[in-house]
Amino acid sequence: MKKKTKKILVLNGPNLNMLGIREPDVYGRRTYRDLVSAIEEHAKERSVFVTVFQSNSEAVLVTKIQRAFGIYDGIVINPAAYTHTSIALLDAVKAVSIPTVEVHLSDVSEREDFRQVSYVRLAAAKTIMGRGFDGYLEAIDYLLDEVFADGGGAK
Ligand code: DQA
Repeated sequence: MKKKTKKILVLNGPNLNMLGIREPDVYGRRTYRDLVSAIEEHAKERSVFVTVFQSNSEAVLVTKIQRAFGIYDGIVINPAAYTHTSIALLDAVKAVSIPTVEVHLSDVSEREDFRQVSYVRLAAAKTIMGRGFDGYLEAIDYLLDEVFADGGGAK
């Protein structure tokens, strides 16, 4: 029988739209568009449906997570600065119970003290940090290979 194509929602928080311009020493010179292309290309290779979305607004991100309920099989989220502040994002992920992977481009564990707290991590199946763009691709692979456990893509 034909398996249903898995759906993954990739969410990016504030200032990630500024990739390429923003602190290139930390985040590199590739742009947000480049990130979206890398994710979409990987999704195509893995035969998984992805939606990639960015917002600077906590409320918009919360609403996106709520609306993922019943539609998406997994979430990959880089909440950016909201990682360290947002109980609302944590509660949204808990509310929908969709397997979620937390991603950070930089290795936040090696950065300032205020970046050592992550609320969303409390509900995340896994955290990937310090792997740059590859972290997002690894998060998709993790969902497909470990969480969905059936290879994920259309067969
Ligand atoms: C980030 C790390 C956060 O501390 C920071 O606020 C970001 C990006 C990362 O991808 O490394 O905006 O989430």
